[in-house]
Amino acid sequence: MSPEHRKIGVLTGGGDAPGLNAVIRAVVKAGANSGMEVIGLEDSFDGLLDSARSRRLTPHDVTGILRLGGTILGTTNRGNPFEYPTDGGKADYSDRVVETFGQMGLDALVVIGGDGTLAIAHQFYLKGIPVVGVPKTIDNDIVGTTSCFGFDTAVSFATDAIDRLHTTAQSHKRIMVVEVMGRYAGWIALHAGMAGGADVILVPEIAYDIEKVAAHIMRRDTWGARFSIVVVAEGAKPVGGALTLKTAARPGVVERLGGIGEQVADALQEMTGKESRSVVLGHLQRGGSPTSFDRVLATRFGAKAVELVRRGVFGRMVANNPPDIVHIPLADVVGRTKTVPLDYDLLTAARSIGVSVGD
Ligand code: F6P
Repeated sequence: MSPEHRKIGVLTGGGDAPGLNAVIRAVVKAGANSGMEVIGLEDSFDGLLDSARSRRLTPHDVTGILRLGGTILGTTNRGNPFEYPTDGGKADYSDRVVETFGQMGLDALVVIGGDGTLAIAHQFYLKGIPVVGVPKTIDNDIVGTTSCFGFDTAVSFATDAIDRLHTTAQSHKRIMVVEVMGRYAGWIALHAGMAGGADVILVPEIAYDIEKVAAHIMRRDTWGARFSIVVVAEGAKPVGGALTLKTAARPGVVERLGGIGEQVADALQEMTGKESRSVVLGHLQRGGSPTSFDRVLATRFGAKAVELVRRGVFGRMVANNPPDIVHIPLADVVGRTKTVPLDYDLLTAARSIGVSVGD
């Protein structure tokens, strides 16, 4: 072990995702087994603004958390120390973070988070903090990794919901529209839609034509299927249209998406004459216990992050590149989004079995 990397800070940032605790557990256990001390930083980067918001984590402290959703490290507060929200606007507290990091005697920082959190982690790396990133998002839209923990759990939950909605769709000959998460990328919609046997899957990557969707649904009648299941990602847009927002962006606050499912259901009811209902799965997709796949992936990520610390390799993000867990520069990840490629074989499979993707 590199003698200078003995004390690791670990924090979780951004929206929660099932598997955060599994990563923390792996970091703590692998760290302890390598003779390192692991300090849990609470409330994301806030734990580095005030050293009182941190605590030593031992293997005993993480016993039993593998299956827990959420994070044991307080909240995943989205506050960015470079633009920290204050009463009068914003302040740059990044120097304070670097100072606290030094005062706490930390040698490395493991940051578990999505695109926003990893971008902040990269900025701190450039300011001299030895950082290793661990990608987290149920949306699965972080570049450089085939999967992020949380995605499989979200897909499993959404698939189960679609299975259940089939009952009402069939019994009432209705169109059931399911709105799933996926701000910029349709991974959840496509995977859950295919796993759940959806008839229409609308993703942000392909602008949909509602007339074509309605015609597809009417065609199903000709062979006796009088119901339809439509899965729509929250970030899907009609041809020439815009995102459907619940609340618009304000300074320092990202826009909140929501409502596309209802819009699609209303339009389809009008155009097909079929009774339609919509269901928004929302944050249910981010809650609960991680699937076995996500527990394993999260554990592999945590163990790899500690290995990088041990080897003194920083400014990197651990990534899934089956069959291996690899590491790539954080610089290659920030500011980019992994959308569903238009030649993705699952899209091709969807079309080939007669699923409409709205085009
Ligand atoms: O980033 C993951 C995500 O689940 C997006 O799909 C969704 O738009 C967003 O989080 C919702 O975040 P919040 O909890 O802040 O409303």
